[in-house]
Amino acid sequence: HPHPLLDRFGRVHTDLRISLTDRCNLRCTYCMPAEGLDWLPKPDLLTDEELLRLVRIATTRLGIRSLRLTGGEPLLRKGLADLVTAFAALPDAPELSLTTNGIGLARQADALRAAGLDRVNVSLDTLRRDRFREITRRDRLADVLAGLAAAQRAGLAPVKVNAVPVRGVNDDEITDLALWAVEKGYRLRFIESMPLDAQGAWDRARMVTAEEILASLRTVFTLDPVPREGNAPAEQWLVEGTEATIGVIASVTRPFCGGCDRVRLTADGQLRNCLFATDESDLRALLRGGADDERIEAAWRACITGKAAGHAIDSADFQRPARPMSAIGG
Ligand code: GTP
Ligand code: 5AD
Ligand code: SF4
Repeated sequence: HPHPLLDRFGRVHTDLRISLTDRCNLRCTYCMPAEGLDWLPKPDLLTDEELLRLVRIATTRLGIRSLRLTGGEPLLRKGLADLVTAFAALPDAPELSLTTNGIGLARQADALRAAGLDRVNVSLDTLRRDRFREITRRDRLADVLAGLAAAQRAGLAPVKVNAVPVRGVNDDEITDLALWAVEKGYRLRFIESMPLDAQGAWDRARMVTAEEILASLRTVFTLDPVPREGNAPAEQWLVEGTEATIGVIASVTRPFCGGCDRVRLTADGQLRNCLFATDESDLRALLRGGADDERIEAAWRACITGKAAGHAIDSADFQRPARPMSAIGG
């Protein structure tokens, strides 16, 4: 068994999140401007071969056991199903999951399942067509709903739905989303919005807190707490009288940094020990400079050693990371 990927605080890192592209086909207002961002040029992205080498090092030498593919929008990556097939064929293959906005999932769900993808998390903030168009600046609600249904049919289970409530935008839909998810059998999680948008427009006053979310939910449901799944960020509740659970990811008001088991790789091959890290380790330079596996393993361990105890969103000297969330990976 590999030596665990430990930081100075004793946290063991077993979860790797890889951004496969920084591009996206939506333009969520709380994420990026209407014109999009300066996307990474193609040669800067890690190739499939480079990704496979890093994941092999992660699973065989570093004890990584779960792999989440993110974006931007990961379904935009060409040859995604082949890449998943290759990840699934690695020695000590990790659990494989995907976080997506759901556009194009209806077309790809079966192939991804066949390739070895275990499950998907789909982002959806509203069930109203007009509002979806206002939030994402694209008229694609039907595609997302079709993607969700296809994922469920394909057995990419449990299908989770991520919703970010924003005050005055969709916070009146918390109970509607919940009733819908319970009926459909999707596992819904509400997420507190974090200061990671590209515009720097995040405003704490517009963030809907976990406490407020729960208060809304309790107007229609009785909720019984469920133990947290390992180090997962979501706190969960069983909806009384159903088999459904609803979760809240309270990154801001109830940070879960103390149990964090995550490490991230950006599409251009930079390793990050935290969503909010201000430093990155350049694994792409090592890969392209001919470094051997030992050298890459050592760089990886050094990156984790430098991990901070937690994010400092609430501190006076909080500094946003140089990249927005869409370029780091969710
Ligand atoms: P599973 O529980 O395994 O399905 O994964 P997950 O919930 O972590 O995955 P997902 O990609 O759906 O992430 C949901 C949300 O959790 C993200 O959009 C973030 O808002 C939040 N999140 C994920 N990782 C971190 C993290 O390391 N730190 C913080 N503060 N928030 C995170
Ligand atoms: N804070 C919290 N969650 C965010 N997401 C995007 N931007 C933010 C933010 N600033 C969510 C998306 C998606 C997931 C990948 O991250 O809505 O569910
Ligand atoms: Fe795209 Fe996700 Fe950002 Fe929306 S939140 S623009 S779906 S990366």
